[in-house]
Amino acid sequence: MQSLINKKIVLGISGGIAAYKTPELARLLMQEGASVQVVMTEAAQQFVTPVTMQALTGNPVFTSQWDNSISNNMAHIELSRAADAIVIAPGSADLMAKLSLGLADDLLSTLCLARDCPLLIAPAMNKQMWEHAATQRSAERLNKDGVTLLGPASGFQACGEVGMGRMLEPAEVAEQVIAFFQKKTLLGKKVLITAGPTFEAIDPVRGITNHSSGKMGFTIARAALEAGAQVHLIAGPCNLPTPLEATGLITRTNVVSAKEMHAATLAATDCDVFFAVAAVADWGIAKPAKEKIKRNGKETPNIEFVANPDILLDVAKTVKTKAGKPYPYCVGFAAESTDLEKHADEKRKRKGIPMIVGNIGPDTFGSDLNQLLVIDASGSKKIAKAEKLQLARQLIQLVAKKI
Ligand code: C5P
Repeated sequence: MQSLINKKIVLGISGGIAAYKTPELARLLMQEGASVQVVMTEAAQQFVTPVTMQALTGNPVFTSQWDNSISNNMAHIELSRAADAIVIAPGSADLMAKLSLGLADDLLSTLCLARDCPLLIAPAMNKQMWEHAATQRSAERLNKDGVTLLGPASGFQACGEVGMGRMLEPAEVAEQVIAFFQKKTLLGKKVLITAGPTFEAIDPVRGITNHSSGKMGFTIARAALEAGAQVHLIAGPCNLPTPLEATGLITRTNVVSAKEMHAATLAATDCDVFFAVAAVADWGIAKPAKEKIKRNGKETPNIEFVANPDILLDVAKTVKTKAGKPYPYCVGFAAESTDLEKHADEKRKRKGIPMIVGNIGPDTFGSDLNQLLVIDASGSKKIAKAEKLQLARQLIQLVAKKI
């Protein structure tokens, strides 16, 4: 499912070496269903050509405010009125300064001034330029004017230096543009999420884990961020990138064992919603060996198990009340092999939580697809088979209504 269907985006390119990444950004926005209209400054054309952008977007590229191909010769009005958003990537220090002052001496700056749609800028420049008081002033002014700055990031720069000012990767810019268009139903809320498997060590090289990929929990984290929440993600061992990391609105704590996950989660319960998505090991190893257990003839090791703490149950015990509403609002997950609704609802009651989400279907591990059964005291509601991101967004909307 594409996330930018029917969205018209004016993609502005200003002069900076990061412009070599903008064709990829155009492609990613289009893959999500957006139609992309490119506008380039004169300097931008030194780094990437209008022909490249036209070939990729299928639309003629505008480079001059004196272009007479628009019937009333008012490209700045026509282009900005037709857009759902203007996204500028890269945004140079010069363009940011110009926009922060309301100057309009070329097509891109003029259409930003004439716009009645949101403006998002992904700054890109050398670290000295970014740190300069004048650029920081521009960034602050633009923020105050309601412009959304995407990044910049820190890292290796084309000039050979390392520092703040790198443009976000095209995929990160695209994800933030997608997030920008989602409903902000959790604005100002704090969301805590456990995700992935746990790993219970037998000795320094062996252990017991499960097939949880972490995808569902990470996707719920992304959907919560898209909805405006601040997210704390507590992840068991899984190789997934932190969603929307560049927003600065997500904290990730990596843990290994169920005990570690329990401690990290219980220390973070000052939140509005808790999603227990992790597949936590029910049992840990009583005494993990300090050294690798040697294979000794025919003898097999005797491994003694101990019950792990139930994280969700313990978080549910910490629930307090604010303005007549209990918090955190606890949401559990259940994967059952039979009679999902009955067993999941029993689990909900046993753990003392208001909502539990059942995974329907046996093939959810590692898959991008899933279907869910959401159960609370008022009954159950099915969320039909879809990509996990679609399901997560729907679940977030349901939970947002509850709190
Ligand atoms: O108890 P059971 O594993 O069947 O319940 C599943 C739900 O409980 C999931 O939300 C899971 O994240 C959570 N859970 C937990 N701590 C455990 C076991 C399960 O938080 N030790």
